[in-house]
Amino acid sequence: MSLQNSGAVNKDYTLAGKTVANLFFEDSTRTRFSFEVAAKKLSANLISFSAKGSSVSKGESLKDTVLTLEAMGVDALVVRHHHSGASNTIANSNWSQASVINAGDGTHQHPTQALTDALTIRMRLNGAEDLGGLSGVKVLIVGDILHSRVARSNLNLLETLGAKVSLAGPSTLLPNHAHAIGSTTFHNFDTALENDFDVVLMLRMQRERMNSSFIPSENEYAALWQLSAERFSRLRSKALILHPGPMNRGLEISSAVADSTQSGIVQQVSNGVAVRMAVLQKLVGQGTDS
Ligand code: CP
Repeated sequence: MSLQNSGAVNKDYTLAGKTVANLFFEDSTRTRFSFEVAAKKLSANLISFSAKGSSVSKGESLKDTVLTLEAMGVDALVVRHHHSGASNTIANSNWSQASVINAGDGTHQHPTQALTDALTIRMRLNGAEDLGGLSGVKVLIVGDILHSRVARSNLNLLETLGAKVSLAGPSTLLPNHAHAIGSTTFHNFDTALENDFDVVLMLRMQRERMNSSFIPSENEYAALWQLSAERFSRLRSKALILHPGPMNRGLEISSAVADSTQSGIVQQVSNGVAVRMAVLQKLVGQGTDS
């Protein structure tokens, strides 16, 4: 499979006759539509399910939703759910024989986002023709680490690939066990920036998962934690800026930084299609590689 951007990934018939169901109980733009594009590029049939507008609003359970799709014949269930562990629950049940792909579960994991981010880092730091590894690459993840499944998946994957990942955020938005998992943590963005990172991955605040106030105000958060043009100017000249989206411009990241030539944010989205094609091909296409 090509690692070019989505526009360059050619149509392929690997999943002809297979059915992929996108099962989204939470809102999504990037993950949902990139799985859709990926499934269509592989010639799969696609069922696109949103909790909004479905019988979930009439009280139908996760189990009965999955049993209903199983009865229609599905080969893959791409699941986004607000409950941490939802995709694991389906995978370990006897509700469906389909492959289950976690497209983001609560505050737990977002594995295909991490695969996308790792690919983007490798392409941008080493060049598309020589992806290279991540040994010794210094990555800083900044913001609402506590509620971020993207941070958790990236920490697992990037460190496995040899990168050194540090975390930075207000103490209210850092998990208590951040030190226990071996990462360097910073409670001050400006102190963190003295460490010459190769990659800075910015996160948004996950307000939909907050049941109390974690920051004094958005203005104070922006002053202390925004990757502003001034903070950006203190990074090494080739530092790569990432954000999984959706961005809140002017809060955690300034537009000048998000739209700069050092930003890999659009490329993350493009790479998301290729990564999701690879995942679908591996799980549903009888493990065939091309
Ligand atoms: N990165 C990400 O998961 O974005 P969406 O919520 O738009 O899918």
